[in-house]
Amino acid sequence: IRNRSEEVAKYICEYITKRINIFAPTAERPFVLGLPTGSSPLPIYHALITAYEQGRVSFRNVVTFNMDEYVGLERNHAESYHSFMYTNFFRHIDINTKNINILDGNAANLAEECLAYEAKIKALGGIELFLGGVGSDGHIAFNEPGSSLASRTRVKSLAYETIVANARFFNGDLNLVPRMALTVGVQTIMEAREVIIIATGTAKSLAIQQAVESGVSHMCTLSCLQLHPCSTLVVDEDATLEL
Ligand code: GLP
Repeated sequence: IRNRSEEVAKYICEYITKRINIFAPTAERPFVLGLPTGSSPLPIYHALITAYEQGRVSFRNVVTFNMDEYVGLERNHAESYHSFMYTNFFRHIDINTKNINILDGNAANLAEECLAYEAKIKALGGIELFLGGVGSDGHIAFNEPGSSLASRTRVKSLAYETIVANARFFNGDLNLVPRMALTVGVQTIMEAREVIIIATGTAKSLAIQQAVESGVSHMCTLSCLQLHPCSTLVVDEDATLEL
């Protein structure tokens, strides 16, 4: 897509809107949507809020599962993924808060929290559509280089490259960036019936090149989507620079 993030967002927004409307979710049969954080999805959330305001989509019967959350960051901290999702999306749409699922990075037992998350996804029949971003090192969710391609929701230590990339959200101070996160696993994402990944800007071009033109590798977890029967990368021209 030529015109950068706005065009990418418009395309993905229209696609998600169509998918939800065709699915025609009900309370008994909700649409299960996986969602990311980060700067890349922001214009998508903006476009989806507009679509909702225009009456073109409703989230009343949509159940969401977020990809990841920092460990140990207060839920109300401005940079927690919990805060991010409410500020940038949930507060502006008609979703039932009971249908929002975000991993709790302050749970007393983090391993149990991860198991319960997987169980909840399974109980709902799996994720219909997982929307995701990609880190500059090729990670999806927080599945950093070296993650097992069979991984499920778990505690993950963050790669140095990710800590540096995310420091911009913490006054540029590396020491303020949490070192650990809870994240859905590569396999959790692979089990979604459909996966859409957004990548914009030159900072993502190397990751896109590795994911598309190299083989499947746990050193670039985005590459696992080569094996997914229904996955799409939606990229702007800058992100294709290395292809
Ligand atoms: C974080 C998130 C990822 C996200 C990545 C890219 O690491 N855990 O899910 O894809 O950031 O973020 P951005 O879109 O800001 O480049």
